[in-house]
Amino acid sequence: MANPQFYPLEVNPLTKEPFLRLRNHKNIIITPPRSSDPTSYCLILNDPRVHKWLTGPPIPHFREHAEAWYAVITPPIAAVLAALDAAKDKADLITVDICPVRAIREILDNGEDVYLGDIGFTRLQDGKLLAPPDVEVDKELASRYASENAERMVGDPKIIWTVGDYLTPSHHGQGIMSDALKTVLDGWAIPRMNARRINASALRGNQGSVRVFQKNGFQLAGLRENFVEARGETHDIHVLEWHLDDDNVP
Ligand SMILES: CC(C)(COP(=O)(O)OP(=O)(O)OC[C@H]1O[C@@H](n2cnc3c(N)ncnc32)[C@H](O)[C@@H]1OP(=O)(O)O)[C@@H](O)C(=O)NCCC(=O)NCCS
Repeated sequence: MANPQFYPLEVNPLTKEPFLRLRNHKNIIITPPRSSDPTSYCLILNDPRVHKWLTGPPIPHFREHAEAWYAVITPPIAAVLAALDAAKDKADLITVDICPVRAIREILDNGEDVYLGDIGFTRLQDGKLLAPPDVEVDKELASRYASENAERMVGDPKIIWTVGDYLTPSHHGQGIMSDALKTVLDGWAIPRMNARRINASALRGNQGSVRVFQKNGFQLAGLRENFVEARGETHDIHVLEWHLDDDNVP
C-alpha cells in the first residue's frame, strides 16, 4: 500500500521515485536529485544567461564543484525520505524541514526525462537579510539572527525560508518557474513544512526572477545596495517577502 506520508507527492511505480507534477505544465515533474544530474547541472550553470544572476556557485563550474554541491543537497533529502518512510503508520502527516523534491525535469514523448533546473527551499542563513532593514547589523548580530533561524524547531511558523532557482535557457519565458514555485509552495512548503514566511532576493535587474516571485504573492520589499560580492563585483539586490496567515492557508 502507498505510504500516505508522501502526500501529495506521487511515486513512479517503476523507479519508486517520488515526484510533484507541475500544475500547468503536466509534462514537467520535480524529483529528488539523482547522481546522474551533475553533467547537465554543470552545462546549465556554465551558461552566462544563467550564472550572470547567481552569486553562489563558482564559475567556471567544474565536475568537482557539482559533486561537492550534490554531496550537500542529497543527504538531507535522503534523511527526509527515510523519516517519511518511518512514519508510514502514523495517523497524522508529519511536518518536515525540507522539500524532498527539487530537480525539475521534462518528460519526453519516449518516456525518458531531461534535467531542466532546480528549485530549492532552505532556511535563510544570511543574518543581514534576516534582520529588519532598519536595524544596523554588525557581524555578531548577523550571526545571532542566523543562529536563531537555524535553531527554531521543525514546523515553527517563525522560521524564515528562502528559495533559490534556475532553469536551462532553452526553457526560459514559458511560465515554468512560476508554475514550479506555485507547485512546491502549495504542494509541500505550506502544508508539509508549515512555511509561513519566505524572504527571497534577486540581483538588481533580474526581472524574470522578480516576476516569478511576484506572480506567487511575494511583495518587493526594497533594494539593498552593494549587498553582495561575487566574482570581483559588488551587486545590489531586490528583496522580496512573502508571508501567509493561518487564516489564508489554501
Ligand atoms: C529567473 C528564471 C528562473 C525565471 O524562470 P522562467 O521559467 O523563465 O520564468 P517564467 O517563464 O515563469 O516567467 C515569469 C515572469 O517573468 C517574465 N520574465 C521571464 N524572463 C524574463 C526576462 N529575462 N526579462 C524580463 N521578464 C522575464 C515573464 O514574462 C513572466 O512575466 P509575465 O507573466 O508577467 O509575462 C530563469 O529565467 C532563470 O533560470 N534565470 C537564470 C537564473 C536565475 O536568475 N535564477 C534566479 C536567481 S534569484
